[in-house]
Amino acid sequence: MTRVLLLGASGMLGSSLAPRLEAAGHIVVQQSRSDGYDIKLDLLSHQAWIDCLGKVKPETIVNLAAATNVDQCERNPQWAFDANIGPLLALVRASCSTKIRPHIVHISTDQLYDGKGPHSEAHVRPCNVYALSKFAAELVIKEYPATIIRTNFFGLSYAQERPSFSDWIIKSIKSNKQITLFNDVFFSAIHMDTLCYFINLAIEKRPQGTFNVGTHDGISKAEFGLQLASRLGLATKTIRVGSVDELDLKARRPLDMRMKTIHFQDQFGVSTPSMSTEINKAADEYHA
Ligand SMILES: NC(=O)c1ccc[n+]([C@@H]2O[C@H](COP(=O)([O-])OP(=O)(O)OC[C@H]3O[C@@H](n4cnc5c(N)ncnc54)[C@H](OP(=O)(O)O)[C@@H]3O)[C@@H](O)[C@H]2O)c1
Repeated sequence: MTRVLLLGASGMLGSSLAPRLEAAGHIVVQQSRSDGYDIKLDLLSHQAWIDCLGKVKPETIVNLAAATNVDQCERNPQWAFDANIGPLLALVRASCSTKIRPHIVHISTDQLYDGKGPHSEAHVRPCNVYALSKFAAELVIKEYPATIIRTNFFGLSYAQERPSFSDWIIKSIKSNKQITLFNDVFFSAIHMDTLCYFINLAIEKRPQGTFNVGTHDGISKAEFGLQLASRLGLATKTIRVGSVDELDLKARRPLDMRMKTIHFQDQFGVSTPSMSTEINKAADEYHA
């Protein structure tokens, strides 16, 4: 049993992770800026962090708090850097002042990669402000006792007004809305439930370093949507397959975010699933 402080508990991943960690027997203190959570810690305040470390006494801090809207980050880099780096800077500073050093499990992103994949952990090439701010956040805690998980995920979201990629696809099909899925963007995302299992392992085993956490193979976003729809028996006539270049997006998107997961598998002593397994998992969940 570990005393865990969960930052960004109100978000998409936090809403799945908190009950999962509690079920695993951990004491989970949930942080959010919204009402209804255990603490409303101001993540950018040095003094608030000093008080929090003394009062909550976390053994592990799981950081999910982030500005995740990629185009919004591009429009407002100050906001992106404050949200994505600020909490870790304030935490590390407070940790130095108090000499309290909890283990940090930090969730980063596959958006750090660009160019032809699959990518190993050393192959970082941020191509937008979001990716740059997430990479800078990693550097703040690189020499701290930390597990940095680079990932991407899908599955049923339990967070209000925060649909996942798979939620968006299924909702659009069911409401007969035409959507375009990209055949030139590749990823190796995993189901949120699998990711929660791996985060729990990180809390228990405390491996230090940076790890790619995804499926051992990859797929285009178009193929992902078509396979998910097919496993759910949904018609795909409203899905248009196209190129990301057709959209006028504010931030440039990496085309190939597929990751090599060998380092993660070696250090965590696990095998990563295939994309097909993860899509089946999502299909079972949506069926239920
Ligand atoms: N979603 C994905 O597909 C994906 C893919 C790869 C990596 N990730 C990473 O995984 C982690 C969790 O992602 P998620 O999708 O669960 O995130 P999310 O739903 O956007 O939630 C993030 C949480 O961060 C908190 N937050 C703190 N400061 C913020 C600020 N200035 N602006 C916006 N939110 C702020 C918010 O909580 P309050 O407002 O309640 O304080 C929010 O609920 C993030 O670190 C993200 O970078 C996500």
